[in-house]
Amino acid sequence: MKIISARDYGHMSRQTANIISAQVILKPDCVLGLATGSSPIGTYRQLIDWYRKGDIDFSQVRTVNLDEYVGLDASNDQSYNYFMCHNLFDHINIDPDNTNVPCGVNPDAEGECARYDAVIRSMGGIDLQLLGLGPNGHIGFNEPDDCFSRHTHKVALTEATIQANKRFFEREEDVPRFAYTMGIGDIMNARRVVMVVSGSGKASIVKEAFFGPITPRVPASILQLHRDFTLVADEAALSQI
Ligand code: F6R
Repeated sequence: MKIISARDYGHMSRQTANIISAQVILKPDCVLGLATGSSPIGTYRQLIDWYRKGDIDFSQVRTVNLDEYVGLDASNDQSYNYFMCHNLFDHINIDPDNTNVPCGVNPDAEGECARYDAVIRSMGGIDLQLLGLGPNGHIGFNEPDDCFSRHTHKVALTEATIQANKRFFEREEDVPRFAYTMGIGDIMNARRVVMVVSGSGKASIVKEAFFGPITPRVPASILQLHRDFTLVADEAALSQI
């Protein structure tokens, strides 16, 4: 595990964008695993800026997102599909056919999860997976549990996640209770994993996840065993280690 200590959110975002940019330059048709949430927005803004300056070309890049709320379609402004278009895809020269997000409105959960795993397999796996860290240690929507999950599956969101994510919705009742998420096995199979974390609110979970025991009760702790895991965090998030 490598830890890159950044001064603040802006610095963390630029450092992470540099790593992703290097990946795309070295392998123009790479597969990027992408995340939503507040943490990677600055990284996406920096990548858009470099694209506009002509420094990075996404024309051959393929992407696969971590997760999607069950019940929300791509036109819903709270869906992760919408988030990705709004915060990245609409601003760069990526081919929309090369982008993948689980389909939240497929009622056939088993079929949708099997389809998504087949997409990841057909791409030859993920070259670089970007992650955020949930306040309860979740990655993707892999919530604390008794065991680690292997593949894409439907998950019931925990109360902690509903509370953390309600800030994006008008009313707490609007927060979906289920999501489709890549499994821990899918994430661990990525050839490189980069996590962005910022703010003092994440300091205790950073300590627990990366300096505590490896346990499915803190899903991110499994990343301690990944061969190429980099944590890019600001000083506030690293303040307890
Ligand atoms: C998002 C995702 C989640 C978030 C996590 C942190 O696709 O999978 O695991 O990365 O909830 O969210 P923020 O960055 O909003 O604190």
